[in-house]
Amino acid sequence: MSNRTFTMIKPDATGKGYTGAILDQIINAGFAIKAMKWIKLSAEQAGKFYEIHKERPFYGELVEFMSSGPIVAAILEKENAVADFRTLIGATNPANAAEGTIRKKYAASVGENAVHGSDSDENAVIEGNFFFSGLERF
Ligand code: TYD
Repeated sequence: MSNRTFTMIKPDATGKGYTGAILDQIINAGFAIKAMKWIKLSAEQAGKFYEIHKERPFYGELVEFMSSGPIVAAILEKENAVADFRTLIGATNPANAAEGTIRKKYAASVGENAVHGSDSDENAVIEGNFFFSGLERF
């Protein structure tokens, strides 16, 4: 089991000024930041990141949303990082997210759901490599 995951604070949350509060919650939950950047994706870049969802009906909307404003991308480290981070952020749809989770507190809808968290160790590596070179992490 790997001890790293990858996250993005999405454009809805950066746009509403939630970046600091979300980073605080992540750090207070015991995650160490091993790489981080503030970046605005082009539609092409967002499309590539979410290529796995290309055939899903929400793909176009997702790509448009994820390229609509700045995001924070980060690699996080903690024991059992992937599973623990998904617990911290809550269900994809904030209406179903547990009380106190990041999505429950900051997300507006299933599409604009404030944060991303990798769903497996393998994807955490792929997603981290999408955003960060070896020089940009430690
Ligand atoms: P998914 O991998 O199912 O969720 P999670 O982010 O919790 O791993 O979906 C990826 C993203 O796609 C999700 O965070 C928001 C978007 N999405 C929609 O816009 N509509 C939907 O119906 C679903 C399921 C996801």
